[in-house]
Amino acid sequence: MASKIIGKIKVDDCDLEKDIKYLNSVTKQPEEYDEFGQGYWKNLSLYNASGDASDTQYRNTDKCLPTEYATQCPSIQKLVQQHFKLDNLKMIRARSLVDGLVIPHRDFVELDKKITYFRVFVALEKNEEAFHSDEHGVFQMKTGEVWFLDAGISHAAVNFGLKSRMFLCLDFMYEGEFEYTDIFTDRSVLEDYRSSFYISRKPFINSQKEELISATSKILDRFTFKDVVFALSKYHFIYDLPVSSCYDWIISAAEQKNNIEIIKKAKSLRKYLIEKRDMDERYSINDWNI
Ligand SMILES: [Fe+2]
Repeated sequence: MASKIIGKIKVDDCDLEKDIKYLNSVTKQPEEYDEFGQGYWKNLSLYNASGDASDTQYRNTDKCLPTEYATQCPSIQKLVQQHFKLDNLKMIRARSLVDGLVIPHRDFVELDKKITYFRVFVALEKNEEAFHSDEHGVFQMKTGEVWFLDAGISHAAVNFGLKSRMFLCLDFMYEGEFEYTDIFTDRSVLEDYRSSFYISRKPFINSQKEELISATSKILDRFTFKDVVFALSKYHFIYDLPVSSCYDWIISAAEQKNNIEIIKKAKSLRKYLIEKRDMDERYSINDWNI
C-alpha cells in the first residue's frame, strides 16, 4: 500500500522545541541497521517493551513503557497520550536524520504474515530538505502530519541539509481486521490535511540511464561498492525513477565489466534489503567473505 497522510495533529501549541533540543543532544548509540544509513541517523527509544532506553529491539509485546528519554520529553508524552491509543502500540522511537540517507529497503519482511504491522510517522518540525520515498513516489512530511508508511514495500529517506529533522515513529500491531482510524483517541480533533503530496521530479531518459551504468562500471569494485550504493540511491529523490533502481543499475554495471564478485554482492544486497531475508539474518555491505 502507498504511504499516505492519515491525520494532522495541531502541534503549534505543543511547545516541542525543548523536547527536540533534548533529543538532539542525546548521543547516538550504535544500532543493528546503522550501515544502511549514511550521515547522522539516530533512533531513540521513547516507549518500548522494557522501558529501557538502550533496548532498541522491536518485538511483539503487551507492554509499551516510557523510557528515560520519554520522561525528559513532557510535551511529546502529552502529544502521544492525547492523540494515540496505547492498546496496540508496541514502540515509539524518535528519529533524526541529518545530512544523510537511508538506502532503499523493506522492513518486517522477516516477520509473521498473519499480523498487521502498522507504522506511522509524525513530523515534529519543518524541514524543507528532507524527503521520504516509496514505490509510488517521493514526498515530504510536514509538521504535525501523521503518515502511514508501508514499511513492507521498498522505501528510503534523505535529508540533504544540515538542519534537524526529528520525527516520531509509532509501531502498532494488530491481529485480524482493523481500521487505521483505530490508532487515534479522538479523530474529530484532528485537523484537515492534504491529499496530494508527491513532489515532481526531473525526467530521466534511457540514454541517461545507460550513461550512468557505463560510468558506474568504470569505478565499481569492492573498494567503492558501498559509496556507489549510497550515491546511486540518491538519484530517485531527484529524478523520476523507481525507489530501488540503484540496485539494478549496480548489477548491470558489474555485469558490464563482468565482475563476478560484485554481481554476486549486489544481488545479495538487493535480496536482503528488498526481496527476502530470514529471521535474525544479518548482512554486512563490506563483508566480502561471500
Ligand atoms: Fe524502514
